[in-house]
Amino acid sequence: MPEMTSNLSGQHILLGISGGIAAYKTPILVRRLVEAGASVQVVMTANAHQFVTATSLQAVSGNPVRDDLWDAGAEAAMGHIELARWADQILIAPATASMIARLATGDASDLLSTLCLASPAPVSIAPAMNQQMYQHPAVQRNLASLQADGCRIIGPDSGDQACGDRGPGRMTEPEDLLTALAEQSLTGDGRGPLTDCTVTVTTGPTREAIDPVRYISNHSSGLQGLAVAESARRAGAKVILIAGPGVAGAHAEIERRDVTTAQDMYEQVHNALPSTDVFIGVAAVADYRPANAQGQKIKRHRQEEPDMRLALVENPDIIASVVQSGQVKVVVGFAAETNDTLNNAREKRARKGLDAIVVNDVSDHSIGFNSSNNAVTLIHENGEIDFGIQPKTEIAEQLIYQLGALFKNKITL
Ligand code: PMT
Repeated sequence: MPEMTSNLSGQHILLGISGGIAAYKTPILVRRLVEAGASVQVVMTANAHQFVTATSLQAVSGNPVRDDLWDAGAEAAMGHIELARWADQILIAPATASMIARLATGDASDLLSTLCLASPAPVSIAPAMNQQMYQHPAVQRNLASLQADGCRIIGPDSGDQACGDRGPGRMTEPEDLLTALAEQSLTGDGRGPLTDCTVTVTTGPTREAIDPVRYISNHSSGLQGLAVAESARRAGAKVILIAGPGVAGAHAEIERRDVTTAQDMYEQVHNALPSTDVFIGVAAVADYRPANAQGQKIKRHRQEEPDMRLALVENPDIIASVVQSGQVKVVVGFAAETNDTLNNAREKRARKGLDAIVVNDVSDHSIGFNSSNNAVTLIHENGEIDFGIQPKTEIAEQLIYQLGALFKNKITL
């Protein structure tokens, strides 16, 4: 077994197989993954059954093979959402042009495409098809948009094809797929850079009620914080995620606490502090809330006061209170800036007493709020590191690694 593949030990790998001739190689791939210590669950599309049998895949994986969103028996054993959250990584091999098109458009018409949408795990795709198909602009466009969404494309290899053509489109060989999955793995043998560490992450917006139907909020989707929580989990940490309204699902092993207002978030953060080693504040917390939230819907026609004025009061600064508590070893903030980005962030880090701050320029609407991409600068006491525009999942992986390295001594104290 190549040394790198020991990184896969203990990993939960969901292997999706779509209907291409290269599917005949997947029992070998599953066998190698199991030999490397991974647990493998296989999901096939209907067409994959034309090329490989579920019986072989069940025999090598040791788990029943899933192929139907509507299989009541399989759902009772492990629901598809449960399966989506079980996965540490998803690999689709072979990925046909049709599968790639469905994934690129977010089409959830079968079990495998549904799982890819429902899972917070990183998705890798090993395309396999005729060389002419592979080079078609439609396929290239779909692959580019999957890549922009954070999917990793592995291969394809080039060479002789089953159809007699020669060129790019052969599925990457099982051994190379194994190495690619091992590289993707942060947890290694289960002892990543944050093992034995509890990381609390806040994410998403807060909502501050004006009356029962209106509120003050912002454009945060929670994606960046979800990605940070997921990377911390894969780096070996126990993760507590405190999420504002509207934030998507997280991995089953992440302990999640949902909140609505800044005050709720403050309370949940302080409940988590006694067990927290590292606090990462990604949430876009409302700095102010209405002074007097009304119990009934405010009416439009108020002749005595036609101009509406809303009195606001300050919310607690959650992250500053975490620093002041002295209970946490490392405190990292995020800063959403629209001007004089770096100077504002440097000042914010110093004012709040943070170990580090991660700043994004949210005047650029292609990144930051409610986008799958971001571009950030990590500012710490001894320097600054730029991470150019890329998927939030990639930013999160690199940030967690950098934070693990920068604060290694503090974290392991
Ligand atoms: O959620 P996404 O759509 O993925 O977008 C990601 C993001 C743009 C929200 C994220 O990358 C980001 O920039 N998060 C910080 C947003 C923010 O509110 O920044 P700020 O500069 O206002 O706050 C600075 C720090 O203080 C943050 O760590 C914030 O969580 C914290 N804070 C702010 C106010 C407050 N009352 N309490 C706090 O703890």
